[in-house]
Formats: sequence, structure tokens, C-alpha cells
Amino acid sequence: MVLGSYSDKDFDALYPLKMRKLSGTHWTPVGIAMKAISFFENSGCNSVLDLGSGVGKFCLIAADSSSIRISGIEQRENLVQLARKIAVNHQLSNLEFIHGDLISLDLSDFDGFYFFNSFEENINSKDSLDRQSTLSSIQHENYINALREKFDALPIKTRIVTYCGEASEIPESYRLVQQSHKGRLRFWEKQI
Ligand SMILES: C[S@@+](CC[C@H](N)C(=O)[O-])C[C@H]1O[C@@H](n2cnc3c(N)ncnc32)[C@H](O)[C@@H]1O
Repeated sequence: MVLGSYSDKDFDALYPLKMRKLSGTHWTPVGIAMKAISFFENSGCNSVLDLGSGVGKFCLIAADSSSIRISGIEQRENLVQLARKIAVNHQLSNLEFIHGDLISLDLSDFDGFYFFNSFEENINSKDSLDRQSTLSSIQHENYINALREKFDALPIKTRIVTYCGEASEIPESYRLVQQSHKGRLRFWEKQI
């Protein structure tokens, strides 16, 4: 059975209990991942990056449902290892997980990006992922500004999907082309 047809409950059962419990707050619902990947496919994207890929839920569903090259970058090594293990178990060859800080990555290899409010942990301690989380509004602002600059430097037609958050990391050079889920899921395209 393809991962995109799993219920969230069945998909989350791939993870240890501790990670399963975090799903409602931190991991993308299956239906949202399917909508995002269909936007990237219809836009002709070749290579999509999940910025802050967590346990890999978006990436795993996307890679199993499409032939697009899918990558995820995640700062927590234990989450990267978990995501890689599930990718191997499902023989997903169009998928890679990178361990690192997303702000240090060169984004020019990608023409589509998925961003599920990854910097929220810097300003909101609710359901924190682990004890590594420390609150800092300055850090939050620095991250948002740095990502906005990186997005702004990318070529015309670059696509971004944002899920939740204020989308303040999206520069004015992008146009909102579509939205759903009461504006929580937004689809962007670089215009200039
Ligand atoms: C809300 S979760 C989303 C996970 C995944 N994208 C999904 O949709 O299922 C955000 C993730 O971003 C990661 N993250 C936050 N800041 C990061 C950074 N600067 N570099 C890499 N990962 C980061 C967190 O560790 C967390 O796993």
C-alpha cells in the first residue's frame, strides 16, 4: 500500500511512541502532504526540499507518491536517523535526508520547497520536541530573515508550500497562487 493512502494513525504507527505523540503538533498530516506534492508535480518541479524535515513524514509520503527527487534537511540527528531507516524499509531511492542547519544549505539545487513552520520552536514551548529547544525571539527573527533572503535569491518560478505560521519568511517577490485549509496551507510562486 502506498504511504499516501495511509491514515495518519497508520502512518504514525511507523514511529516509536514518543514520536507518534508529537505528530498532531509537529508532523504533516498525510492529506496535506498529498496536496503539497500534487502542487509541486503540476508545477513541473524536479527537486523538492523539506526545510526542517523532522521524522521525515512529508518527505516519505512525497517520495512514495511521486517521481520527484525529494530531500529533507533536519537539525536533530536522531530524527534524521529515524527517517532514513523508514526510507530504507520502503526502498525509496528518490529520497535523501541531510543532517544540518537549513540556513547553511545551498538552496540552488532545488526548485520547490516545503516549510512547516520550522522556526516556531524558537518562540513557542508548547509540546517541545526535546530539551534542546530554547526560546529566543531574536533567534526566531534571525532565522526568518535569513530564510527570506535565501528565498529571494532563487530563480523565477521557484515554488514554495507553507503549512501553518504567518509566512513571514516569504519575500514580496513571491505571489500567493492558491490556498486552502482556512489559509493554513499556502502555495507560492516566485514572480520576479
Ligand atoms: C514542525 S516540524 C516539521 C517536520 C516535517 N517537515 C513534517 O512536516 O513532517 C519542524 C522541524 O524543523 C526542524 N528545524 C527547526 N529549525 C531548524 C533548522 N534551523 N535547521 C534544520 N532543521 C530545523 C525541527 O527540528 C523540526 O523537526
